[in-house]
Amino acid sequence: MAHALVVGGTGMLRDVCRHLAAHAHHVSVVARSRAQLETLARDVAHLGPPHGPIHPLPVDYRDLPAFERAIRSAPADAGPVTLGVCWVHDPAQPVLHAVADLLTESGLWSTLVHVVGSGVADPSAAEPFDPHLIEEWGGRGVHYRRVILGFRIESATSSRWLTHAEIAAGVIRAITSDVPVQVVGTVEPWDRRPV
Ligand SMILES: NC(=O)c1ccc[n+]([C@@H]2O[C@H](COP(=O)([O-])OP(=O)(O)OC[C@H]3O[C@@H](n4cnc5c(N)ncnc54)[C@H](OP(=O)(O)O)[C@@H]3O)[C@@H](O)[C@H]2O)c1
Repeated sequence: MAHALVVGGTGMLRDVCRHLAAHAHHVSVVARSRAQLETLARDVAHLGPPHGPIHPLPVDYRDLPAFERAIRSAPADAGPVTLGVCWVHDPAQPVLHAVADLLTESGLWSTLVHVVGSGVADPSAAEPFDPHLIEEWGGRGVHYRRVILGFRIESATSSRWLTHAEIAAGVIRAITSDVPVQVVGTVEPWDRRPV
């Protein structure tokens, strides 16, 4: 069994956790609400084999030392984490860095899937993430993958944000493919984004 860590896994990434569990992964999930985490763990446990277990990690990732402790607290039989999936609001960089450190500790090739909002595609905005970090992680065997959540243009006059199902499908595609950057939906033309 492999071991995946999903940070922010009880909201729109819930089906990503379920997908990973269905593929016999141990899935450690970070969120603040213990109740939401336990509901997810119970739902998956009811599905039975080949589903792997969900390990609830109730912690606020803005408390970095507590977060670093929590992501190392899964049962030992879950094995080393080799896949990290992160949906993190500010400050994202230290949280991502802590997950990259954990992946490095596995001593195995690993993948860090970073889910970001459409704001990174705003032509007037600066890149919010230090690109040297991504290079540094690559040198340590951690492959960084970015999933940009865009929007859907439905007609000449209307567009909408993504559904949870579309978001989960896009993130699962990023986990299973080897593409550095994927856009779910579109981010162009930028002025057609929903308001
Ligand atoms: N382009 C798009 O279409 C797009 C992009 C982004 C979002 N959205 C939509 O916007 C909705 C709301 O977005 P959302 O950001 O609230 O996403 P969400 O995925 O629904 O919820 C955020 C996840 O992160 C966890 N979380 C949040 N803050 C945390 C913290 N400080 N420490 C630990 N875990 C934390 C939450 O659990 P706890 O609250 O229990 O901590 C939850 O698991 C989404 O559900 C989606 O429908 C759409």
